[in-house]
Amino acid sequence: MVIYTQKETLVQALSSANKNDKIGFVPTMGALHKGHISLVKKALAENKVVVVSIFVNPTQFNNKADLQKYPRTPEDDISLLKNLKGELVVYLPEISDLYENSVSAKKYNFGGLQNEMEGKHRKGHFDGVGTIVSKLLKIIKPNTAYFGEKDFQQLQIVKKLVAIEKLPVKIVGCPILRETNGLAMSSRNKRLSAKQFEEVTLIYRTLKEVKEKFKSTSITDLNALVSERFLQNPDLKLEYFEIANEATLKTAKRKNKASKYRAFIAAFAGEVRLIDNISLN
Ligand code: PAF
Repeated sequence: MVIYTQKETLVQALSSANKNDKIGFVPTMGALHKGHISLVKKALAENKVVVVSIFVNPTQFNNKADLQKYPRTPEDDISLLKNLKGELVVYLPEISDLYENSVSAKKYNFGGLQNEMEGKHRKGHFDGVGTIVSKLLKIIKPNTAYFGEKDFQQLQIVKKLVAIEKLPVKIVGCPILRETNGLAMSSRNKRLSAKQFEEVTLIYRTLKEVKEKFKSTSITDLNALVSERFLQNPDLKLEYFEIANEATLKTAKRKNKASKYRAFIAAFAGEVRLIDNISLN
């Protein structure tokens, strides 16, 4: 495993690889967990060289405190990655290596995807994600990049981004990995107390209940059911629950047999904001 902190040396190293060698890419903000490792293992199985970036991107945080408190564990991240077999390259830059003149995001229109759910609640978030993912893809030029489905809206937006910018990369979505209690794996889980770690299982329990009842229950009744479940648990604050069309991410009011739907939740346990989703049909 080789670690680069500067894009010039990373680009140089990647350009000396054989032209036919496939490059896989896993972008991360560090605080790596088994979910990230599963993406890296998939990338290693499908590519000759795999680049993992570790960079807490300031432009995608709409909340200063969230950025400050985002877990940063570079030593642990490196040790985890060192255990993996294969040709692994780690890109661990400083902010100035990626944002030379100003730490700001480009404005994007992802065909309306940016205005739904996370876009409504985290203003400018997807401009920041689009800006950094575009920069990283242009530096690394991977054949394939891997993203987790926990951030399903992000995955759809990245697919749109590469179409808009005509970037020659395949975007692969990978299934959510869960703790044994059902909680979706996330770097933010490191900030939960032991009590909160148990309480937040409500999120996945509720999503599973919605999935079980989806065929037989109207969307209006499912919305009411989820509000009720969260009202019974005052330690968790529901930010939003949405049943949305999987392709457009638009809120579904009623079901249409030809469409695919997903249920999405964002909720707070104290100051920690968690998101999760499940496919419904
Ligand atoms: O999903 C994440 O960790 C981040 O949004 C990403 C894709 C690494 C961009 O900073």
